[in-house]
Amino acid sequence: MSTRPRTPGPATPAPGKLPLPELAQMKSRGDKIVMITAYDAPAARLADEAGVELILVGDTAAMVMLGHESTVPVTLDEMIFLTRAVTRAARRPLVVGDLPFGTYEVSDDQAVSSAIRLVKEGGADVVKLEGARRMVSRVRAIAESNIGVMGHVGLTPQSATKLGGFKAQGRSADAALRLYEDALALQEAGCFAVVLEAVPAEVAARVTEALDVPTIGIGAGVACDGQVLVWHDMLGLYQGRTPRFVKRYAEVASVIGEAVSSYAADVRSGAFPEERHTYSIPEDELALFEQALAEARVR
Ligand code: KIV
Repeated sequence: MSTRPRTPGPATPAPGKLPLPELAQMKSRGDKIVMITAYDAPAARLADEAGVELILVGDTAAMVMLGHESTVPVTLDEMIFLTRAVTRAARRPLVVGDLPFGTYEVSDDQAVSSAIRLVKEGGADVVKLEGARRMVSRVRAIAESNIGVMGHVGLTPQSATKLGGFKAQGRSADAALRLYEDALALQEAGCFAVVLEAVPAEVAARVTEALDVPTIGIGAGVACDGQVLVWHDMLGLYQGRTPRFVKRYAEVASVIGEAVSSYAADVRSGAFPEERHTYSIPEDELALFEQALAEARVR
């Protein structure tokens, strides 16, 4: 048997990493699953220290990190870069790499090679993709490549234009039934969990009861097996429109704004830097330095 150390990958979780099957066990015990997005190492470290189970490097990065108007423009290379930063710092939580728009729609092969890049280059533990039944063969293909897949139904921001905007989904009996069947089809195809976004609480509750795998809600009520929020939304860091399902746990943007204004005022008044922020040179060395300068001026 080989004694060489093995590179952690989908088949060999890093030491201390939450085992993927633990999520299903949490569902059967009735323990809630906590997921939060993160896009850099400091955020990932804080989320890990707070004890979350899942960190999603979401394509919301396009809006909250990169200043785009929607999630559509972010590229796979950009997502890999951000995922890499998160996976350097996240020890216990499973890191979910989000497949951005245009990297899995074309074919199963395209989906598998994009997922492999997120895992191999980004270090993601598992991946997520958006879409309903039409994604079943993509999910199956990725899962058969030994990469865990999280589904995402309801409001799927990558197709917001087609859905008529950032609107709640599944609000008629027909739409609710379609969503219910979509979630079951994704489970059947191999998803280890399904995100339900902007779905009526009653519909999310029925889906959650019907699935063996956990549901992770965002704007989908309290019956889901877990919840996810976007880092910048819940911390009050994103200054664009935030959906009604966001709860703000802090107002970090105003704390940062005040700190930067104080810094600017201190620089302008000379109050910063103070003695304690400054290095000094020994007096004899300073005298030699002044002497060298004086001699240089004479020459
Ligand atoms: O990209 C993202 O952050 C997401 C969450 C909103 C679930 O998909």
